[in-house]
Amino acid sequence: MPFNLRGRSLLSLCHHTPAEISYLVDLAEDLKRAKRAGTEVPRLQGRNIALLFEKTSTRTRSSFEVAAADQGAHTTFFGPTDSQFGRKESVKDSARVFGQIYDAIEYRGFAQKTVEDLARYSGVPVFNGLTDEWHPTQMLCDLLTMREHSGKPFNRISFAYMGDARFNTGNSLLMIGAKMGMDVRIGAPKAYWPAPEILKMCERFAKASGARITLTEDPEEAVRGVDFIHTDIWVSMGEPADVWDKRIADLRPYQVNSALMKASGNPHVKFMHCLPAYHNDETEVGRAVIKAHPELASGVEVTEEVFESPSSIVFEQAGNRLHTIKAVMVAALA
Ligand code: CP
Ligand code: NVA
Repeated sequence: MPFNLRGRSLLSLCHHTPAEISYLVDLAEDLKRAKRAGTEVPRLQGRNIALLFEKTSTRTRSSFEVAAADQGAHTTFFGPTDSQFGRKESVKDSARVFGQIYDAIEYRGFAQKTVEDLARYSGVPVFNGLTDEWHPTQMLCDLLTMREHSGKPFNRISFAYMGDARFNTGNSLLMIGAKMGMDVRIGAPKAYWPAPEILKMCERFAKASGARITLTEDPEEAVRGVDFIHTDIWVSMGEPADVWDKRIADLRPYQVNSALMKASGNPHVKFMHCLPAYHNDETEVGRAVIKAHPELASGVEVTEEVFESPSSIVFEQAGNRLHTIKAVMVAALA
């Protein structure tokens, strides 16, 4: 079926077809090659993009800003306290203002409904830079990274996601794996599995794509034979610090360490993480968590050993945020 992503928002990827998703990943690959070859053609000159961040960011913000600059577009960054958004002006009113002034809006924040309302009322394409529920630009990056590193088509790639699977990264990896016909495993205690309505939707996607979905509380079963092992932080932005103790008690068996990498039985298995990661005590949060839980001295959701090993591809993964976010903007706005 022909498709056209011009003018299209990216709110979750749930409503994009596998062909549309493949197109975005292919476009990112082309843009990456062109940038490296010095042959990139700027196609977004004269475009203005609002970057609205209600949570902090390193990768997503840099990728939107550099991708826009590479393509000749201009951005305005609004940090959590830089605008009237949400405090003195409703989402609906701000959306209509931004829609008059900008050609597109990127939003990072809390509720999925906010990003959907921005799209509904602004009249311009809106790109979800992370909500509590979904992280779609990260998924395009992860797909590109897995394809580059395995050399396989999506439907022959297998991966496991370990840990807190009921938040943005876990939900999104399950959904994208189901959509793209992949062998996707979730290794987590049942209480941390994606919500039943998300599971149901993913089962529908898997039926259409031929994907295999495995949800298991057994970490070793989750990783058996996989090409990639993913994880994410155990306490996400916006969650209260007092959940750490319970989270650690519940998720410690799902830590990605050398034994778990080995349990995959695949000597070429690669480690992935959307980042930031707590793998040592060199961050404020990591230090506090490790101080209160000396049993995590070797790392929290991932050990320092795995994070710094040759199997870890997390920084190439981070670099791919640029090319995939650029693809989203070029497809929608060029
Ligand atoms: N992975 C990711 O979204 O990173 P930032 O929070 O730094 O944007
Ligand atoms: N689950 C993490 C992802 C960070 C990119 C968070 O929401 O904080």
